[in-house]
Amino acid sequence: MRLKEHQIANRAAWQKFAARYVEPAEEGWTSGHPHWGIWRIPESEIGLLPDSLAEQRCIEIGCGAGYVSSWMARRDAKSVVGIDPTPNQLATARRLEAQHQLGINFVEGFGETLPFADGCFDFAISEYGASLWADPYQWVPEAARVLRPGGNLVFMTNHAFAICCLPDEEDENAPISQQLQRPYLGLYQNEWEFSSNEVEFHLPHGEWIALLRANHFTVERLLELGSPTAVSGSSYGWADASWAAQWPTEEVWCARRL
Ligand SMILES: C[S@@+](CC[C@H](N)C(=O)[O-])C[C@H]1O[C@@H](n2cnc3c(N)ncnc32)[C@H](O)[C@@H]1O
Repeated sequence: MRLKEHQIANRAAWQKFAARYVEPAEEGWTSGHPHWGIWRIPESEIGLLPDSLAEQRCIEIGCGAGYVSSWMARRDAKSVVGIDPTPNQLATARRLEAQHQLGINFVEGFGETLPFADGCFDFAISEYGASLWADPYQWVPEAARVLRPGGNLVFMTNHAFAICCLPDEEDENAPISQQLQRPYLGLYQNEWEFSSNEVEFHLPHGEWIALLRANHFTVERLLELGSPTAVSGSSYGWADASWAAQWPTEEVWCARRL
């Protein structure tokens, strides 16, 4: 199948970014205490994963180096598949799987075209994977297709407030502004000045709801996450903890396939 321009650009970008993600992935694979996103919010506070995934066939869409997949496997999932288009990310994931022997199957592919049968998963998750780098109008229908009715979809990405307030300058670490920098209405594909030519995808909340509903999901929770009070910074230069004490930097959608 012919790849879209954004798929080629994003895979090429992630081939380069992958080296930066090796160390956090190694830490994630060994951590018995999952934590999420920019502020490393503990799983015990936001509960994105069921305590037990026994009998659940799980998929991580845009798994990168696979630490979220490892957390699912350690929660007794019946099976875990991680899919990602970027060979260098998968190389780390497969090396860590060989080291930890959790039985996770890592597959090369894009969130927009999942090479799996209809209804073959019970639980799907994406932490800044397809949720940020794949076209939502293609990956959400695919997630709906591969989930059985009653299956759950959880995805985390940047909050729309943060995207609207990020300055678009050459310096990737320019601090986030308290003034809006771009329109909220029409938010969809975004290419930053500081990036090469990779493409991110963001939607206004009403659009996410419409898209999820059109694909037979019901929204069960929307978490809007800022910085926890104890945190003073993050490894992302733009993410200012005092800004994020007032506005959300991240959002997590929890939906169930009807
Ligand atoms: C930030 S990583 C997410 C993995 C992990 N949760 C993490 O934070 O390291 C983003 C991943 O999205 C993947 N990605 C890029 N385009 C994608 C697409 N169209 N479908 C699925 N994943 C994609 C990249 O290859 C990369 O490994």
